[in-house]
Amino acid sequence: MKGIILAGGLGTRLSPLTRITNKHLLPIYNKPMIYYPIETLINAGITDIMVVTGGNYAGDFLRLLGNGKEFGLKHMNYTYQEGEGGIADALSLAEYFAEGEKICVVLGDNIIERNIIKAVRDFEKQKEGAKILLKEVPDPERFGVAYMQEGRIVEIVEKPKKPRSNLAVIGIYMYDERVFDIIKTLKPSDRGELEITDVNNAYIREGKMTWEMLKGWWTDAGTFESLLRANLLVSQTGANNVDPEDRA
Ligand code: G1P
Repeated sequence: MKGIILAGGLGTRLSPLTRITNKHLLPIYNKPMIYYPIETLINAGITDIMVVTGGNYAGDFLRLLGNGKEFGLKHMNYTYQEGEGGIADALSLAEYFAEGEKICVVLGDNIIERNIIKAVRDFEKQKEGAKILLKEVPDPERFGVAYMQEGRIVEIVEKPKKPRSNLAVIGIYMYDERVFDIIKTLKPSDRGELEITDVNNAYIREGKMTWEMLKGWWTDAGTFESLLRANLLVSQTGANNVDPEDRA
């Protein structure tokens, strides 16, 4: 499986912090934000990684990460998203990199306490389709929210005003090679972006979406509140912790 980290966007919700750098290069406790999703993938045994970036400071990712030596990697792949087309648009740029393999996509501002190795192993065995991870949250209106019936996800609604469940869809997604064809059929949402939630709903309609609950805490870091929360959580427990039985 290949790994793709989406680290584009202008990070306008964090202005003025993002006026002179990319959101994903801001510090979370003792490391730049982008380090955490890289470690998430490596802990799950995924070492063939592409970073999709964008905006005005894309060159700084290369200066910071190089070929990933610090993470024990031999090579790091990069591509550049022009404009603000959304998460699914950024993902579409990784089609050549994926080369028909399954992929694990991590949003560059998503940080987890533990690891996703079980979900990745399960998805390796899954014949086709997609897998997402869910987490119960107190503020589901900020996220994609999953609605369940008899153990299956029947729909995901992006940032519902009145959420009917507290199950957030976290920013770690696993897809088969069909994801790139699905993205080509999408139309921009009201916020003018190609939404990852529309990709996931396409798999749900086909009955090919599986899910797991994430263990440990999860946070994004795209607002001042969540950026502070991410710093506090990481300083208290560390992130990407691996239990001995969970090693890749
Ligand atoms: C994005 C997705 C949303 C998901 C969230 C996780 O939202 O659209 O479905 O729950 O990431 O961090 P964004 O924060 O980019 O608006």
